Amino acid sequence: PKTNDIVLLNKSYLKDEYSNVTQKVSGFLGRNIFLQPSHPLSLVRQRIVNHFYKSFVTRRGNPVFSVHDNLQPIVNTTQNFDSLLIPENHPSRSKSDCYYINKNYLLRAHMTAHQSELIQSGLNNFLIIGDVYRRDEIDRTHYPVFHQVDAVRLLSREQLFSKDDNLNIFEEGNNTAFTGNQEKQACHSLEAVKLIEYELKQTLHGLAKELFGDHVKYRWVDTTFPFTQPSWELEIYHVSEWIEVLGCGIMQQAILNNAGVNNKIGWAFGLGLERLAMCLYKIPDIRLFWSNDSGFLNQFKSKNPNDSITYIPISQYPQCKNDLSFWIPTTGHFSSNDFYDLARNIAGDLIEQIQLIDEFTHPKNGKISHCYRITYRHMEKTLTQDEVNMIHKKIEESVKEMGGTIR
Ligand code: PHE
Repeated sequence: PKTNDIVLLNKSYLKDEYSNVTQKVSGFLGRNIFLQPSHPLSLVRQRIVNHFYKSFVTRRGNPVFSVHDNLQPIVNTTQNFDSLLIPENHPSRSKSDCYYINKNYLLRAHMTAHQSELIQSGLNNFLIIGDVYRRDEIDRTHYPVFHQVDAVRLLSREQLFSKDDNLNIFEEGNNTAFTGNQEKQACHSLEAVKLIEYELKQTLHGLAKELFGDHVKYRWVDTTFPFTQPSWELEIYHVSEWIEVLGCGIMQQAILNNAGVNNKIGWAFGLGLERLAMCLYKIPDIRLFWSNDSGFLNQFKSKNPNDSITYIPISQYPQCKNDLSFWIPTTGHFSSNDFYDLARNIAGDLIEQIQLIDEFTHPKNGKISHCYRITYRHMEKTLTQDEVNMIHKKIEESVKEMGGTIR
């Protein structure tokens, strides 16, 4: 391939000024750890799928939801954003938040990217499961790739209201314009919204009970998404803190209409598997999911989705902290995420955390200086000072190449 090309999953893409997928990140493509038998992410995935299979059955006892877990993680901007009514200027589209292959293609930032096309193909009840990619900070709960389960359920008037002919899904001439009204979309009747909200919340409370037990403490928090209205987050009280586990809501009717469905109303949600697995199995660091270390993987080997498992940490190796201060490049847009990706690309999973500990602007020349504290810790052995110095030096070199000036 020419130097202007990038090959991902056996396909070649033309690079442009949007391209920011690093080598480290492209190495995650196709690994499919969430499908690997006995992997903790796989156990949680199966538990969620089984719960849906069990909770929604046809009169003949067959599962209603279909599962889609082999969709390619490379999507276009229409799939990831436009089809979901995410506005052109929305921050979630920015280069500093997403891994772009070029200006038209990116590594999907959420599984919702596939929602519209699956509806278009005629499906009414489905789960979409896979790896998603986001540029973010580096610490024990953040990683550039993680996994989501999304769901969609569409209901017709007959399904919602049975035989009652007086009730309708739609009112006000089917107006789908965004009103900013958090309570409901103008096109929906209050009865339809309340009924479907009830089903959505019952379903997700049921899932929370399945995972965390019947006495799970939970709460609904109002929020907004461009693709649902109204929208909520579900939080669960776990080890003395409230944890956000998913986002959900009543789907924007315009999404259904654009996908060729104009007689149904739908709910949708998206949840992250890592956070659930970390809570359920007491896994302390998100990097462990990518570890091939038998000390980690063996603890989940030949387990079933319903087994209760508590991860016992393999001995913690010592940390090594090193600071790095530099004047940020004066040309182009520099964001901290650029530094995190640069460091991650060189040091991989040897970095446990990076903190921006100081930021200051030179009073005379206006140059901006960032100081980052990098915590190095190998998951499987003790790093020597020499090893750390060598990696740290490489990161310095790379900062210089990017146009930064080490202080
Ligand atoms: N896509 C959202 C996210 O990644 C989650 C979501 C999915 C919210 C579907 C509402 C409906 O945070």
